[in-house]
Amino acid sequence: MALQGQTVLVTGATGFVGGALARRLANDGADVKALARTPEKGHSLRDVPNIEIVQGDITDAERMKAVIQGCDIVFHVAAAIGGTFEFQHKANLDGVRNVMLAAAEAGVKRVVHVSTIAVYGYRASRAVTEATPPNPGRVAYNRTKAEGERTVREIGKERGVSYSIVRPGMIYGPRSNAWTRMLFQVARRKPTPFLGDGSGNPAPIYIDDLIDLMLLMAEHPAAENETFNAVNDPPPTWREFLGGYSQLVGHQAWFGLPVWMGTVVAPLAELVMTLRGTPQDVPALISYVTGQRTYSTAKARELLGWQPKTSLADGIQQCAPWLREKGLLS
Ligand SMILES: NC(=O)c1ccc[n+]([C@@H]2O[C@H](COP(=O)([O-])OP(=O)(O)OC[C@H]3O[C@@H](n4cnc5c(N)ncnc54)[C@H](OP(=O)(O)O)[C@@H]3O)[C@@H](O)[C@H]2O)c1
Repeated sequence: MALQGQTVLVTGATGFVGGALARRLANDGADVKALARTPEKGHSLRDVPNIEIVQGDITDAERMKAVIQGCDIVFHVAAAIGGTFEFQHKANLDGVRNVMLAAAEAGVKRVVHVSTIAVYGYRASRAVTEATPPNPGRVAYNRTKAEGERTVREIGKERGVSYSIVRPGMIYGPRSNAWTRMLFQVARRKPTPFLGDGSGNPAPIYIDDLIDLMLLMAEHPAAENETFNAVNDPPPTWREFLGGYSQLVGHQAWFGLPVWMGTVVAPLAELVMTLRGTPQDVPALISYVTGQRTYSTAKARELLGWQPKTSLADGIQQCAPWLREKGLLS
């Protein structure tokens, strides 16, 4: 049982990944401190044995010191996923610094930091490994997450904090807002609309497989101060990913919008988002979504013996009960 009897902090426990991780750790017998900015949002964790909900905001340095005192392991999952650069900088950089400095002061055994493949950017090469230099571009999320990683490494080195960084792809599974709920809502339309012919590659990873890797990273000697991609490798196509969700409602009809249509509206979309203070690099995003790309997971396989166990078909099937519960699937 992973981390049985150890005290672990999970930041972002009111979110999708942090909530699933907290439940899994508690189930394995760890003493889990689940960080919540707003404890009421942690209601689904309240009655889970071995979970204590602790109030705190990662941007509050003193509070993080108090919360991390006495912890063996910290899983730093919390992040700002949208908003202006300044807003995301505060959580994804200042927040990371607070967590790492508090971990140093508390002498924790390891910090597992959740980053993202978005640090490689939309202009990443066709075959990405952990040695591929980050190229986040000007998108605030990609940039601040890349800077967050740098902060983990700097403080880790300066203050002797053992860390391990995971870069997940598109995390899907029950309770996933983006890659299950929203993608399913697109896929259930008949025909399913998509940009291009759907032969480009998404980078999905099923939530349970990601958690398996994070648990290994918390203790495995070979994971110390290392960074790991977490995706399905080789990747499926968008047609297979969306098609898996369409199959839940019993159709496979597909409608490919010509890529040139996206290219024509891209500058306007970019202008609107820039004026709103959230530039996105839409032209690069279009070629990213329609292009072929592999994120290698050979490193996690070779160093930690990890590889995803859940096929895309099985993972999508496991989302069905939750989609029904949400009233999205009959
Ligand atoms: N979902 C994906 O496909 C994906 C892919 C790659 C990487 N990631 C990374 O995975 C991690 C978790 O993502 P997710 O999908 O679980 O996101 P999520 O559901 O939006 O959860 C984000 C969590 O972070 C918390 N948080 C944000 N700012 C905070 C602050 N200042 N202080 C304390 N807590 C704060 C949120 O708390 P509130 O509930 O109070 O808002 C929430 O619990 C993030 O680091 C993200 O970058 C996600």
